[in-house]
Amino acid sequence: MKGILTTLNGAAIAATVASWLFSSIFSIARADEGMWLPVLVQERIGDMQEKGFRLDAEDIYSINRASLKDAVVLFGRGCTGELISGEGLLLTNHHCGYSQIQKHSSVEHDYLRDGFWAMSRSEELPNEGLTVSFLDRMEDVTDAVLAGYSEGMGETQRDSIVKANSRILIDKAVSQGKGMEADVEALYYGNQYFLFVYRVFRDIRLVGAPPSSIGKFGGDTDNWMWPRHTGDFSIFRIYAGKDNNPADYSEDNVPYTPKKYFSISLGGVNEGDFTFVYGYPGRTQEYIMSEGVRYISEISDPHKIALRSLRLDIQDRYMSRSQAVRIQYSSKNAGVANSWKKWQGEMRGIRKMGTVEKKQEYEKRFAGWADGTRYAGIVQKLDSLYRLLEPYSYAADYYNETARTVELSRFATAYTGLRNKAILTSSEDRADSIRAEMAGLAETFYKDYYLPIDRESFIAVMDMFDRNVPAGFKPEYFVRSMDKYGSAAVWADSLFGNSVFADSTALAGAIAAASAEGPDTDITVLADDPAAEFGRAFEEWYMEGILPVRRRLSREITLLYRDYMKGQMEFEPEKDFYPDANLTLRVAYGSVQGYSPADGTYYLSSSTLEGIMQKDNPEIFDYDVPERLREIYRTKDYGRWAITGADGKKTVPVCFIATNHTSGGNSGSPVINADGNLIGINFDRVWEGTMSDIVFDPDLCRNIALDIRYVLFIIDKVAGASHLLDEMSFSE
Ligand code: ARG
Ligand code: ASP
Repeated sequence: MKGILTTLNGAAIAATVASWLFSSIFSIARADEGMWLPVLVQERIGDMQEKGFRLDAEDIYSINRASLKDAVVLFGRGCTGELISGEGLLLTNHHCGYSQIQKHSSVEHDYLRDGFWAMSRSEELPNEGLTVSFLDRMEDVTDAVLAGYSEGMGETQRDSIVKANSRILIDKAVSQGKGMEADVEALYYGNQYFLFVYRVFRDIRLVGAPPSSIGKFGGDTDNWMWPRHTGDFSIFRIYAGKDNNPADYSEDNVPYTPKKYFSISLGGVNEGDFTFVYGYPGRTQEYIMSEGVRYISEISDPHKIALRSLRLDIQDRYMSRSQAVRIQYSSKNAGVANSWKKWQGEMRGIRKMGTVEKKQEYEKRFAGWADGTRYAGIVQKLDSLYRLLEPYSYAADYYNETARTVELSRFATAYTGLRNKAILTSSEDRADSIRAEMAGLAETFYKDYYLPIDRESFIAVMDMFDRNVPAGFKPEYFVRSMDKYGSAAVWADSLFGNSVFADSTALAGAIAAASAEGPDTDITVLADDPAAEFGRAFEEWYMEGILPVRRRLSREITLLYRDYMKGQMEFEPEKDFYPDANLTLRVAYGSVQGYSPADGTYYLSSSTLEGIMQKDNPEIFDYDVPERLREIYRTKDYGRWAITGADGKKTVPVCFIATNHTSGGNSGSPVINADGNLIGINFDRVWEGTMSDIVFDPDLCRNIALDIRYVLFIIDKVAGASHLLDEMSFSE
């Protein structure tokens, strides 16, 4: 296991005493909690301007003219990106483009390892399935969504009214242009509804990515940490049909002409500067009650961390032995490691802040105030529902982190499901398209599958399942299998040894044989496979025994939250509330600021190339600086990207931190200065502040951004792709 403590010490190249000066000088700039809806930004603009912003609300969000919102996109389904040229050039993180870069990689063309740069438009690589969504507009539609509803109606009736009204709004919105998509989202647990209308582009090509030794420099060792030196960016281009509208991939498509793109600031970033982050945070739960928080920090996080530690150890062992396995598992491994490490910071942060106790105290005051109002008893009711829910949440967490992580069984289940559909459909066309889907699924699966990792992980997680899940909550199939085989290891031998899915040739043979026997055999032959059976048995147990109860209780809890949320707003009328993140566009603002992670230590707000060279170590995979960068460092060939470092010598800026409230999904978001120009790309948060999805500590929560000048330096000096700079526009 990667020791968090040793990592912390290793990476903590912290400045000390003198920097306390900084912190006291700049502590006037208050750290800012909140992710605000752009359409309501006029309510915040006074505060933003007071803190240094020099533009207006209409510059951020407007439906009448081009505004910054037109240069910010949802990249894929969980990252943000920004337009930086009039020809559809888009910036996001390396880790956001990671799976695309990986898909184009092989041992011969290892773009993950070596980087990729299209030197002309014709070399830009298409990415099937990747989309980029522009927000056309957002609107408060609460009245329209609740039209026909009156207090006193049942919840089921309310639901169907909400659904039907939303459908009408969505249908109307999508009929208004090519590539339109729309959603109605509940905010504040259903106290408010907003319509979001998007234009979705689907021909998105990879233009450039640095080698992982830059784009993922520091790897999982430095992930979620400051001081940071990761060049976490990649570049894509949006293509459109000749009419500039969204279109499927075609050679005839042309670069998209955006309504708006960012001008890039070359002026640099200083401690105390105003910044704002414009992007798509995924999920926060700032208003949940103490019991919800306690479950996360005391039960769920610790168990999930332990389970993932086992899998990560196994992956790391095999990946360090073989380049082929490293490529196969790099994307999977990054995903597993990422939440694993975040949960550790989150759990510690919640404990350190005493959030459970603070919330309990708040709930007492709330209950006192609520006495005799329509909010009376809510806290107590929530409390008892949480207690009922807990064993089911626990079982679900275990299911997700054990049975559902077995790759072979996931593939077998998905594949058999499709196959049965193909056999049962009466339409030959439909069957053909399902068969094509199956072929694609199999190809993707086998390309990145390494059985020894899967088998060892199976043994490790099934052992934990056996030990930690209470008897009444285990699937019968699991108990029977453990009885039959005596141990997870023997069970694994049988399952992986006998499954036809373990081998693509065996699978093809089995299918050919089964089809020859006719449709009935066809269906059963794969369904009886041990890997498919495993997936199905666990799924049935979850769907029948766990999920329904979980759903019912969660629904009751959410309903109570609707009132609890409203009650909190009435209880604290002075407080500025913001809706929890839900992967819709938000504005977070704050300032560039260091922080003190521990007594006697203060972290500065920016890092430079010096730190990369201090970490350089060819023996350590995560810190192996590419030769080209070493050479540039030796010759100090920084060109126009040089700045003067703290020691008065020439260096290059790399990353900086600020007090913006961000979350998962904000990766790739533009970090913007007081004049609305691009100064950085958001990509992470500091480890001590990862509890900000639940509770924000202004002293510790910092977002981490890549300095845009480092991006330009890499493109120009390392990649030799300066033709891309010609498309961009710059400001001081
Ligand atoms: N922690 C960042 C985020 O949540 C970056 C993750 C990618 N990097 C990695 N080393 N796994 O997305
Ligand atoms: N790295 C995260 C992302 O991918 C950002 C964060 O959680 O701060 O969105």
